Amino acid sequence: MSLSIGIHDLSFATAEFVLPHTALAAYNGTEIGKYHVGIGQESMSIPAADEDIVTMGAAAAAPIIARHGSDRIRTVVFATESSIDQAKSAGVYVHSLLQLPSATRVVELKQACYGATAALQFAIGLVQRDPAQQVLVIASDVSKYELDSPGEATQGAAAVAMLVSLDPALVRIEDPSGLFTADVMDFWRPNYRNEALVDGHESINAYLQAVEGTWKDYTEQGGRTLEEFAAFCYHQPFTKMAYKAHRHLLNYCGYDTDKNDIARAIAQTTAYNTVIGNSYTASVYLALAALLDQAGDLTGKSVGMFSYGSGSVAEFFAATVVAGYRAHLRTEHNRETIARRRPVDYTGYRALHERSFPTDGGHHATEAQTTGPFRLAGLSGHKRLYETR
Ligand code: CAA
Repeated sequence: MSLSIGIHDLSFATAEFVLPHTALAAYNGTEIGKYHVGIGQESMSIPAADEDIVTMGAAAAAPIIARHGSDRIRTVVFATESSIDQAKSAGVYVHSLLQLPSATRVVELKQACYGATAALQFAIGLVQRDPAQQVLVIASDVSKYELDSPGEATQGAAAVAMLVSLDPALVRIEDPSGLFTADVMDFWRPNYRNEALVDGHESINAYLQAVEGTWKDYTEQGGRTLEEFAAFCYHQPFTKMAYKAHRHLLNYCGYDTDKNDIARAIAQTTAYNTVIGNSYTASVYLALAALLDQAGDLTGKSVGMFSYGSGSVAEFFAATVVAGYRAHLRTEHNRETIARRRPVDYTGYRALHERSFPTDGGHHATEAQTTGPFRLAGLSGHKRLYETR
C-alpha cells in the first residue's frame, strides 16, 4: 500500500508594499476594466528596497518552524525563477536566518514557475525513502517585467513554504501525475537581465497546450476523471488565466463550458493571487491556500492542481484534502499578511522598480523600509548581508 504523503503545513508571506491597479491605470491611461475584469487583477505586491526572495522565503517558513520545530527537517528545497546567485542556493541564507540544524541538505531548483512542483515531488520521494523525515519546500519569487510593457500589470511577489511529511494534516499528494514538456520561448530571463522577456499571447497558447498535454498524460496514466475533482488550482500569472485554462480543459474533454460551472471550480482559488499578483513558483500554492481558507468543508475531496513553468514544463496532479485539515489552516494569519501591506503610489513603485544594486563590490547599505521579520541589509564585497529585525 502506498504511504500517505503530502502537505502537512502551508504558510505564505508577501512583500511590504502594494500598488493598486487603479494607480497603474491612472498613470498609463488604461481603462480599469481591462485590469479588474480582463486580466482579473486588483493590486500587486511590491518588494521594499530591503526585501527579496530570501527575506520573503524566510518569513513564509518561520511560522512553520515555530509550530513544528526543525528536528525532523533534513532537506530544504528552494524553488525560484528570480534567483539571486548563480551558484549559492537562496535556501542556504534561509537555513541560516531560521537557524536550522547543520545536518540538513539545501538546494535550489529552477524551471520558471514550475520549480515548486518539482520540489514537492522530490520532497515526496525523500519522505517515501525515509518516512521519519520532513522536507521544507520554499517557493519564492518576485515577478518583474519592463516598465510600460503589457506584462507590467501582471507583476507581484510572494513566497509559500510547505512542510512535506508522512500522514499530512492538510492534503495528500496522489499518484499519478500528468506530465508535459515542450521547448517554447514564451517567457524567459537571460542571466544578464533583471526583467523577464515574454511573448504574452504566445505564452497563453503555450500554457493552454500544456493544460491539454498534462491532462492527456494524466488520463493515460490512470488518473481521476474530471467529475471527481471538487475544484481546480491552476498556476495564476493573472487570475483570468485560470478561467481560460479551465474552459480549455472542459472543451478538450468534450464538456459544455458553462460560465457558472467554471466560476464554481475556480473562484475561491483566486482570492490571494488577485491582490498579490504573479508570484511565479508560489502562485499555484497560493491558489491552494485560498481554496482551503475560503471553501466549505473539503474533507475527502480531491483538488486538481495544474503547475506551469514557461519554457515549458507542466504537471497535473490531485491533492486530496484530509480529515481535520481545518484545525491546521492559517486563515487569519493569511488575511493579516495581505492586509498589513502598505500602499505605495505610482512614483514610489517606479523608483523601487528602477533601483538595482551597484556591481562594483563596494559596501552598499539598503534603506530600511520593510517591517517584516527579515531584511536584506546591504551588499558588501559582492556578498548579500541579511539580518533578522
Ligand atoms: N474591460 C474588460 N476587459 C477588457 C477591457 C476592458 N475595458 N479591455 C481589454 N479587456 C480584456 C481583453 O479582451 C482581454 O481578454 P481576453 O484575453 O479574454 O480576450 C484581456 O482584457 C487582456 O487584454 P489584451 O490581451 O489586449 O492585453 P495585453 O495585450 O495588454 O496583454 C497579457 C495581456 C498578454 C496577459 C500581458 O499582460 C502579458 O504579457 N503578461 C505576462 C505573460 C503572462 O502572464 N502569460 C501567461 C501565460 S505564461 C505563464 O503562465 C508563466 C508566467 O507566470 C509568466
